[in-house]
Amino acid sequence: MNHTDTPKTPASFHVKSFGCQMNVYDGERMAEMLGAQGMSAAADGAQADLVILNTCHIREKAVDKVYSDIGRLRREDGSRPMIAVAGCVAQAEGAEISRRAPTVDIVVGPQAYHRLPDLIGMAGRGEAAVDTDMPAASKFGALPGRTKQARPTAFLTIMEGCDKFCTYCVVPYTRGAEISRPWAAIVDEAKALVDGGVCEITLLGQNVNAWTGEDGRGRLTGMDGLVRELAAIPGLHRIRYTTSHPNDMSDGLIAAHGEIDKLMPFLHLPVQSGNDRILKAMNRSHTVETYLRIIDRVRAVRPDIAVSGDFIVGFPGESDAEFSDTLKIVDQVRYAQCYSFKYSPRPGTPAADMDDQVPAEVMDERLARLQAAINRHQLDFNTASVGRTMAVLLERKGRHPGQLVGKTPWLQSVHVTAPDLAIGDMIDVDIISAGPNSLAGQLSRRKAA
Ligand code: 5AD
Ligand code: SF4
Repeated sequence: MNHTDTPKTPASFHVKSFGCQMNVYDGERMAEMLGAQGMSAAADGAQADLVILNTCHIREKAVDKVYSDIGRLRREDGSRPMIAVAGCVAQAEGAEISRRAPTVDIVVGPQAYHRLPDLIGMAGRGEAAVDTDMPAASKFGALPGRTKQARPTAFLTIMEGCDKFCTYCVVPYTRGAEISRPWAAIVDEAKALVDGGVCEITLLGQNVNAWTGEDGRGRLTGMDGLVRELAAIPGLHRIRYTTSHPNDMSDGLIAAHGEIDKLMPFLHLPVQSGNDRILKAMNRSHTVETYLRIIDRVRAVRPDIAVSGDFIVGFPGESDAEFSDTLKIVDQVRYAQCYSFKYSPRPGTPAADMDDQVPAEVMDERLARLQAAINRHQLDFNTASVGRTMAVLLERKGRHPGQLVGKTPWLQSVHVTAPDLAIGDMIDVDIISAGPNSLAGQLSRRKAA
């Protein structure tokens, strides 16, 4: 590695996170830790002495993006920042990254980023700085506490990893086994976030509803117990969670949706396919029927709940008829939102070695049909909001002067022109129009129902 043109002791940093919300959370914790060490946050990579690419390994495209981003960090005068690759690509590829991209100074996995300050020191001395350990002691204990937050909403990782081993997925390999953070650590972090100005918390985990632990009195409890405890924190108005697995939708969690007002009426419950043979080949361990029953039960206690999902098209061996079943489940569930992906073979996963990989053109065509169906339901869901008054938490500035963008309880984005209001305000909004991806509204004189 050539360090002559890179800063040896970086004073400023920039974290660029890709992929899921867990990476966003990790990126924020890294930034807070480096800030606590006296480094300053640069507005973008071009001005930073250290750039951390916090990467995603879930699909091939995400990985390609990392390498093109690394190439782009060289500056016009030939210099470059110190470069760290963090996240799941770091975990999966380890030292191989600096062989393929020699300008990378640091490689650090998602369970080891609390060691970044040491790794920065090593890189400054020209030493190879690679850490992809999954240490038994959690990184969380080594990170500084949460302080003042820039936004009214925050993520809070409560469990990590996955034991489900869906045959297409790298997560069990990159993030390791399911591990729940202890009750007290989570409750303390939530209180610190609220003290720092946050009024909405999204609990995160690859299988967030698999969270389990002992409550304050030593009784074993699931995520619903945790939600009840967090709902008692004054100043915390909204609780969300993502991503959940159908097999971990416990009776207690379903009941919580009908009982806890602060638990928002939104459920992200990926199904991946609407066909039982494909679900079995994916090792999903639920069927179409058991999935639909869960949705029915949640709707029975919370009829207005917005359901969202993830889909993969073109899993190896997927026939046209099997794909049609996926279109069918989209119509049955009437999703409020969905993410849909073309299957991407990931090295080391069982599905990558399966016969009958589906040709790219077939996947393109299926994805387009699926997305058209999803968009139709998304628009229907949003259109049904027009004429209603909704509680909106203002989260960021809009593109136009005086415009703010917030979220409804159902996670719809709403644009409001309200020059006298501020980010963090919770307001009542009359919804006046709807598109497939957002709503427009105006400040209401009525109270949201
Ligand atoms: N190819 C395509 N999509 C994938 N996902 C996970 N692994 C793959 C893969 N190999 C999707 C799933 C999951 C979401 C986070 O990413 O739909 O729910
Ligand atoms: Fe991947 Fe399946 Fe685990 Fe989700 S449940 S992270 S899709 S292996």
